[in-house]
Amino acid sequence: MIIQVDLEFRARDSRNAVGRGDLIIVIDVLRSGTSILNALTNGAQAAVPVMTLEEAYKLHGKHPEYLLAGERGGHKPVGFDLGNSPLEFTRERVGGKTLIITTTSGTAALVKSKAAKWILVGGFLNALTTARKAEEIAARETIGVSFVLSGEKGKFSLEDFLCAGAIANGFATGKFHFSDKVQAALLAFKQAEHDLTGSVMKAKHAEHLVQLGFKGDVDFSCNLNVFRTVPMYADGKITLHQQTAPSGL
Ligand code: MLT
Repeated sequence: MIIQVDLEFRARDSRNAVGRGDLIIVIDVLRSGTSILNALTNGAQAAVPVMTLEEAYKLHGKHPEYLLAGERGGHKPVGFDLGNSPLEFTRERVGGKTLIITTTSGTAALVKSKAAKWILVGGFLNALTTARKAEEIAARETIGVSFVLSGEKGKFSLEDFLCAGAIANGFATGKFHFSDKVQAALLAFKQAEHDLTGSVMKAKHAEHLVQLGFKGDVDFSCNLNVFRTVPMYADGKITLHQQTAPSGL
């Protein structure tokens, strides 16, 4: 079976991917996807994405043992334990903990995709492992794969597009059919790959993060294929899916 791969440029178009019955790979390289990935890889038990600050505070009221994480305007909201810098999510801070996370765009893209049966969180850090896990599930379930780009405040973002290309680059030749949007992402990634950080730095959101003093987050988020872990979102929470097949990393 040939697996069809498509791409939605904006979080609100995730409903198209849900309608197709596809496995969805949600991407928010800068920064919530990378933060979630780093938190879970560093031993966090689960991350619960919510859309609004109100929901986050309310859930925290019911579960005061959970850590509140996220951002508004790039900064840690009042009363939160952690912001949205992937570098904050160390083993010491998050090991064994459940996080409630709310960010401007990334967690919204996740929540808007939640009707899908299979949702993975992909980044540059785990691009190849995400490709292999998506391939395994899509082949078994005979479904397609869709990338949903979180973007920034509802708009297209370069770094998420490049990351879709990085993941598509990990799909086995001959088993997939790419839409033109996916082909474009792959071509863009191949052009950017030789200087991924430099390419991502051209993105508006990266520029903004540098201005806010978060250049280290952009650098960290651009490490390619260094994690063998894949976060999976199901039943309202994101947990880690360990790679069982050899990943070649
Ligand atoms: C978001 O979800 O909008 C981003 O993760 C924002 C950020 O860089 O903190």
